[in-house]
Amino acid sequence: MKASFVCSENYHRDNGFTSRKGMMSAHQPLVKALIGLERNRCARILDLGCGNGALLESLTRADPTFVPYGVEHNFSHYRHAQIVLDDYREHFFQGDMFDDSPVWSMGEKFDFVLLMPGRLLERTPLETRFLRKKIMRHAKNLVVYAYGDWLSRFGDIINLASACRLQNIRSLHNSSSVGVAIATTGRFKL
Ligand SMILES: C[S@@+](CC[C@H](N)C(=O)[O-])C[C@H]1O[C@@H](n2cnc3c(N)ncnc32)[C@H](O)[C@@H]1O
Repeated sequence: MKASFVCSENYHRDNGFTSRKGMMSAHQPLVKALIGLERNRCARILDLGCGNGALLESLTRADPTFVPYGVEHNFSHYRHAQIVLDDYREHFFQGDMFDDSPVWSMGEKFDFVLLMPGRLLERTPLETRFLRKKIMRHAKNLVVYAYGDWLSRFGDIINLASACRLQNIRSLHNSSSVGVAIATTGRFKL
């Protein structure tokens, strides 16, 4: 089931990409950045807005000790993530990242929480405050990333993150198609 889904057109379309090659090359800088960080062995990684889990799948393929988690509001993307990462199907939750989620009760801390910061610009201050607090409490590190459309609107990932009031972030990758940056949550102001 996994193999046939991964070979299907939905594999990249679920995540908003027009080709599989485009999706894979957009994921590569994120995978490289996370693999390159120290302290990543057996890291628990939560992708907020995980789509069908293809990014988490690339990460666990690059380092099989990574433990993936995801929150996704689109039901079919969420179900696909459970197919793609079948061994971790209990780690995926359907729901809006701005609502409370069982994922926050899965343990003390995630080593990395992945977030496309533009999501914070789509919601009310009350909603974003809720998510910010959850991230502060449950993430050791926040990794923010964005793809071409958001980057061309804001220039780069640092400008986008600043527009979302994320501070003390360090760029890990910066190109016109993908931006990645990291904040250690103890050291930034949400
Ligand atoms: C561009 S895809 C990215 C998927 C994956 N993280 C990646 O980098 O390939 C964005 C995903 O976030 C989901 N999403 C958007 N807003 C969300 C929200 N408020 N809560 C949960 N999921 C959300 C969308 O349904 C979509 O599947």
